[in-house]
Amino acid sequence: MKVLVTGSTQGIGYALAEAFARRGDDVTVHCSADIKKAEAVRERIGAASAVVCDLSDAGQVESLFSKTGPVDCLILNASVQYKNDWLSVSDSELRKQLEVNFVSTYRLIGEYYPSMKEKGFGRIVAIGSVNVYRNHPELTVYSATKCAVESLIRNIAKQAAPFGVTLNSVSPGAVATPRNRAIYDDPEKRRAVEKNIPVGRFGLPGDIVGAVMMLCSDAGAYITGTDIVIDGGMRL
Ligand SMILES: NC(=O)c1ccc[n+]([C@@H]2O[C@H](COP(=O)([O-])OP(=O)(O)OC[C@H]3O[C@@H](n4cnc5c(N)ncnc54)[C@H](OP(=O)(O)O)[C@@H]3O)[C@@H](O)[C@H]2O)c1
Repeated sequence: MKVLVTGSTQGIGYALAEAFARRGDDVTVHCSADIKKAEAVRERIGAASAVVCDLSDAGQVESLFSKTGPVDCLILNASVQYKNDWLSVSDSELRKQLEVNFVSTYRLIGEYYPSMKEKGFGRIVAIGSVNVYRNHPELTVYSATKCAVESLIRNIAKQAAPFGVTLNSVSPGAVATPRNRAIYDDPEKRRAVEKNIPVGRFGLPGDIVGAVMMLCSDAGAYITGTDIVIDGGMRL
């Protein structure tokens, strides 16, 4: 199958791209701007191609489909996150989180869905967040963008189902990726986060892989319009 994983040069996206490539899929690795970074990952994991596209740039988002062509599985994983008090969010931080996390998700579904519908098969998975279900005082805007994506997926899923296209989201809890490195590498800060995770540890990128792969396999054929939370119980 042809698979595009956005934001797949590191973290959860990297683990997903690597797993699809290991399954024998024709995988496209993606990141925001540095083609060398994407090419290095492509080579390391045995993916088919690499592409750059700044998802905060409407023109670049519009042209991504013409670079990759149709795909069977679209994994919308890339996001940006700014941690600060809700009254301190700058206009550019507000817009960037909306553009990358929500607007590009909407636009890319619009770009890739028609060919899936025509083929009668497609799998779209958006990576959400446990913050759809819980409060984080420094992630107000980020969480709102993830809520918007979850709603978008649910709405389009109902309309796409008759055409063989499923849409779901997978929502991680705290996962040890580059964006969390400063917390993960500091024993005190790490313990403070892990106190709120019933399973007792940070998630690893590999913990998110199984659900996404399942949704993109025969086992996922009857699952659409839902959100699978993988958070070690953090939302409870
Ligand atoms: N890590 C967690 O604890 C956690 C928890 C809940 C949900 N999530 C969600 O899981 C997904 C992956 O998270 P992660 O922690 O693995 O992320 P990460 O390590 O921060 O990596 C983010 C990826 O997204 C790409 N990206 C960032 N800005 C972009 C832009 N403007 N245009 C195109 N690509 C862009 C990055 O590419 P560049 O290298 O080019 O910037 C990178 O490949 C995200 O949707 C995140 O919200 C993560």
